[in-house]
Amino acid sequence: MNKQSLKQSSEQSFILKGNICYSKSREELACIEQGFLVCVDGVSQGVFRFIPEEYKELEVIDYGDSIIIPGMNDLHLHAPQYTFRGTGMDLELLDWLETYTFPEERKYENADYAKRAYSFFAEDLKNSATTRAVIFATIHVPGTLFLMDKLEETGLKTLVGKVNMDRNCADFLSEQTAEASLEATRLWLEQSAGRYRHTAPILTPRFVPTCSDDLLKGLGQIQKEFGLPMQSHLSENLSEIEWVKDLCPWSTCYGDVYRHFGLFGTPEKDSLSLPSSLSSSEPLSSSESLSLSLSESNAKSIMAHCVYSSEEEIDLMKQHGVYIAHCPQSNSNLASGIAPVRDYLNRNLNVGLGTDIAGGASLSMFRCMADAITVSKLRWRLVDQSLKPLTAEEAFYLATIGGGSFFGKVGSFENGYEFDALVLDDSRMRTAEKLSLKERLERYIYLAEESGKLIGKYVGGKQIF
Ligand code: GUN
Ligand code: FE
Repeated sequence: MNKQSLKQSSEQSFILKGNICYSKSREELACIEQGFLVCVDGVSQGVFRFIPEEYKELEVIDYGDSIIIPGMNDLHLHAPQYTFRGTGMDLELLDWLETYTFPEERKYENADYAKRAYSFFAEDLKNSATTRAVIFATIHVPGTLFLMDKLEETGLKTLVGKVNMDRNCADFLSEQTAEASLEATRLWLEQSAGRYRHTAPILTPRFVPTCSDDLLKGLGQIQKEFGLPMQSHLSENLSEIEWVKDLCPWSTCYGDVYRHFGLFGTPEKDSLSLPSSLSSSEPLSSSESLSLSLSESNAKSIMAHCVYSSEEEIDLMKQHGVYIAHCPQSNSNLASGIAPVRDYLNRNLNVGLGTDIAGGASLSMFRCMADAITVSKLRWRLVDQSLKPLTAEEAFYLATIGGGSFFGKVGSFENGYEFDALVLDDSRMRTAEKLSLKERLERYIYLAEESGKLIGKYVGGKQIF
């Protein structure tokens, strides 16, 4: 690109100056003091020690001594549960769902309640470190569309799912039949089509215990038809796994149920083509549009938790390119267990992090990284000494590139990545002597909530604040 065209290019072309950190690989963190991070049309051109000649015309935004990192990607959370996070942490999964979660989600049939609750969820997510998120709503179509509207206004990139559930839950939250649930899903897809730039639908059967075979089969057909990504829960809790065995005695493992109905994602190579339904109806073609990333996430699936996945289930996830959303705080709060993340990384599975609001109480992806490290140490000490704990570099990789890759080229500042960035002010974290940039970042991960300050946020090159 020549100087003239750079000058004329969109407001999404600029340079950020500051102390820049990003993952080069799972183990390696690049740390550049007082570097220049170049964004052209919403896409990173890389990090430089001096401004290259060709970018000399771009505006430089100087963030002084602050730290600049890629955005955080939350692969699993429930927007309607934001209201009761931090309460009701005394039960395990199945009782917790019945006692606290389902009665709360029922309230979203009321439009006023949904508007109030989703408005402050969207506002808080906007102000958090999360730049992209994959979100459960409830079974209710109007509430889900309202949530998508509010998220759209934030400028964050989100995938949002209207939940499907037609069995084993109280009448007040159960869709009456598989057909009714599928019809509502089609209505929601129709009403959300072409309506958003940053927000897109993701199929969301809650989990096998609350979804009949007919429902899963119908969702498998919808996935084929629309080429949509899919999210659910998998092997989170031992009682849940036993229940799935009873409900689906024909299955070889829990994950096999999703696979059987075509809902476990397709091997990555096959999922790269743009489905006709999206390519024909999608009005936007700029790099800002989530559809571009979606073309890469078609038919991909995210499975939250995978605490107790068997060898067979792990093999299936590998074959199908499933993304595992590791949710350490939720797994601790609901006493579910500790997922063997090191094992998943050794096997080169796709792994990202999730806050799992409200199983997890905190919306903070910094807290999520710290929790992932902490529980991995407990697992190593108490369960399996052959699986080393996670390092800070690895947790950072999981929160940025690990989850970001679900959206496409997201989570790094290398040339060609979508420009998602956070600017961190750590000046209130006092220290008696100068720390290295890597030490400052590590400390920020642990102390963000206590004394960190997020002073800048960019998504796809657009400044959020
Ligand atoms: N499994 C099914 N539904 C849920 C939920 O809302 N939260 C968690 N953590 N697990 C689930
Ligand atoms: Fe969940």
